[in-house]
Amino acid sequence: MISAQKHVLITGGAGFIGSHLAEALLETKYKISIIDNFDDFYNPAIKQKNIQEIIKNPNVQIFHDDLRNINSIKALKSCKIDSVFHLASKAGVRKSIELSDIYRENNIESSIALLKFALNNQIKQIIMASSSSVYGNHTEQPWHEDLPDLKPLSPYAQNKLECERLGQKFASENQNQFIALRFFSVFGPRMRPDLAMHRFTKKILNDEPIDLYGSGKSYRDYTYVSDIVAGAIASMGYTKPGFEVFNLGYGEKVTLSEMLSELEHVIGKHGKYHHIPMLKEESFGTWSDCGKAKNRLAYNPKTNLHSGLKAFFEWYKAMSPENSL
Ligand SMILES: NC(=O)c1ccc[n+]([C@@H]2O[C@H](COP(=O)([O-])OP(=O)(O)OC[C@H]3O[C@@H](n4cnc5c(N)ncnc54)[C@H](O)[C@@H]3O)[C@@H](O)[C@H]2O)c1
Repeated sequence: MISAQKHVLITGGAGFIGSHLAEALLETKYKISIIDNFDDFYNPAIKQKNIQEIIKNPNVQIFHDDLRNINSIKALKSCKIDSVFHLASKAGVRKSIELSDIYRENNIESSIALLKFALNNQIKQIIMASSSSVYGNHTEQPWHEDLPDLKPLSPYAQNKLECERLGQKFASENQNQFIALRFFSVFGPRMRPDLAMHRFTKKILNDEPIDLYGSGKSYRDYTYVSDIVAGAIASMGYTKPGFEVFNLGYGEKVTLSEMLSELEHVIGKHGKYHHIPMLKEESFGTWSDCGKAKNRLAYNPKTNLHSGLKAFFEWYKAMSPENSL
């Protein structure tokens, strides 16, 4: 039974995944606070739109601020927060290559500020959005959480692994709980405009050529956003103290070529492709072993690629032009 009094803080709650998470938590009668700086990594108007319905709910308060300032927000200090979902981050592998210092400064410093806030405000549970990219090109697949010697390939992936380690230290020193959820290629309505499916959809519809990294044989474990949200909410019920990591994937590998032909099928139109070399900072293939999350969180991803792409494309057609920037 979920208490109407439970208060959850979502960092990055105006983003793609954060706004879906906020909606789902409100449906189950949580009280939520969101902190988001609406950064211009992509058009902030998209984020305003993501939360335009959410902020009408009386159980929501939103702080338009940088997470690095959280310790000076008086209205948040006076709240009794039960759990934090830490999603605020500059995301994406490719941009992190050119902007590594900016990524590091944002992603690490904001996480440190959050941990300090959690300590000062006796918050017992922090659940962080980590990423499959921390596995790099680890050869033992499907990837499971206990794989040793992780070698993340990009600055973004390195930031995520560093934040996991900060969380692990924090949990062991303070008897708190820190859960890192390694998300695998999340897709669905409100998907970020820099993500492949979103970019490809726009280009196919506009008859523009698409640069494809590699031969088409690289692969991803595409995971629908509602499944990610269900797994994240399930992790709130995980009570074992200390540090824990869970993969949240779908559990299937889909090649880039397979994903494109499914997308073309859903759109009803073919794209024009131009192959360019893969980036060394990107994993060749990602594939999740979801066994631990299934066993301990009763995680049960339900949405396959075809259904998820249909839902994504319905949303894409319905949205206004600012979302396709
Ligand atoms: N989308 C994916 O496929 C995927 C995969 C793995 C991990 N993740 C992680 O999940 C989380 C959410 O991803 P998303 O795709 O929804 O991205 P998103 O960019 O849509 O959401 C992130 C939000 O964080 C906010 N933010 C960034 N820095 C901030 C700061 N310093 N202070 C306050 N707010 C800040 C942004 O304005 C944005 O609204 C991220 O941590 C991302 O790294 C996403």
